[in-house]
Amino acid sequence: MKEQLQNIEKEALSAISDCGSIKDLDALRVKYLGKKGELTAILKSMGSLSAEERPAMGQLANSVRQALDEAINAKNAQLKAAELDAKLSAEKIDVTLPGKQSLTGSRHPLNIVLDDLKEIFRGMGYTVVDGPEVEETKYVFDMLLTDEGHPARDEQDTFYITDKTLLRTQTSSIQIRTMLKQAPPIAIISPGRVYRRDTIDATHSPIFHQCEGLVVDKKITFGDLKGTLEIFAKRLYGEDIKLRFRPHHFPYTEPSAEVDLQCFKCHGAGCALCKGEGWIEMLGSGLVHPQVLINCGIDPNEYSGFAFGIGLERIAMMRYNIDDLRLLYENDIRFLSQFR
Ligand code: DAH
Repeated sequence: MKEQLQNIEKEALSAISDCGSIKDLDALRVKYLGKKGELTAILKSMGSLSAEERPAMGQLANSVRQALDEAINAKNAQLKAAELDAKLSAEKIDVTLPGKQSLTGSRHPLNIVLDDLKEIFRGMGYTVVDGPEVEETKYVFDMLLTDEGHPARDEQDTFYITDKTLLRTQTSSIQIRTMLKQAPPIAIISPGRVYRRDTIDATHSPIFHQCEGLVVDKKITFGDLKGTLEIFAKRLYGEDIKLRFRPHHFPYTEPSAEVDLQCFKCHGAGCALCKGEGWIEMLGSGLVHPQVLINCGIDPNEYSGFAFGIGLERIAMMRYNIDDLRLLYENDIRFLSQFR
């Protein structure tokens, strides 16, 4: 038995020392020290020895066991360290390689203007409302008192899809949709893309963007419209800005006004930006026509409202001194990256 133990020890130690992977080492542990292992089998047969032999054999068996245990643990640590070394050198990062350039986008100038508008009107309690770009003539024209035969409905001016559907020419359709859905008080702005059959040049595009506003409540007057637009213009352009209301006509407002800004470059003296006028046209507005309220089921004896429509391109072009509308749509990164 002594010889047997010594053989096992010799054989196991050499197997452990030759072992090249943690998996193989685990197998060796099972083979020699496991419940059904070779050494364990000998320990179990110890009972057949005589009482004199037993203590010495027991001692030997234990010391073999301990030696194997230690050898396996040491080998295990060694294999683990080697594994880590291999992993580290495989994953080595070459810090001298050139880095990947990360391209950071920037906000489009129209979005910068729109974000400003939203912030200003949200600050005054308005909600931002969205609506479809493919719209029914009912919402774009009929309910806004723009009857068949009105020049705005002309096929020359408008992209029709069918007789009754078109690409919206203004976001005023959202006024109607909102009033049909929601009882006053209403205070919304509705920004969005609009379409008209215009030939592209420095100041025209068949696609552009508007932001409309609508307020309906008890006792809303033209004074509320003026005050609101004045606050809006001052937030956007600074306290010194002056507004001018010019009488105008829109079918859906009565009275209607176009609103000009005093040129913030020359302060009214006349310059290239305002084409010598001293004023720059900014938006259309008015008090909501009582019939529009009636069309939407709102009693004009109880409620009144104002509305306005702003062109976003115009504001962006004035703010950033952009002299050609087309730059806004060409997606030239050299142009766009100038805005943050
Ligand atoms: N829709 C008009 C336009 O496209 C602008 C406008 C004028 C909108 C008066 C309104 C409004 O809501 O009340 O020129």
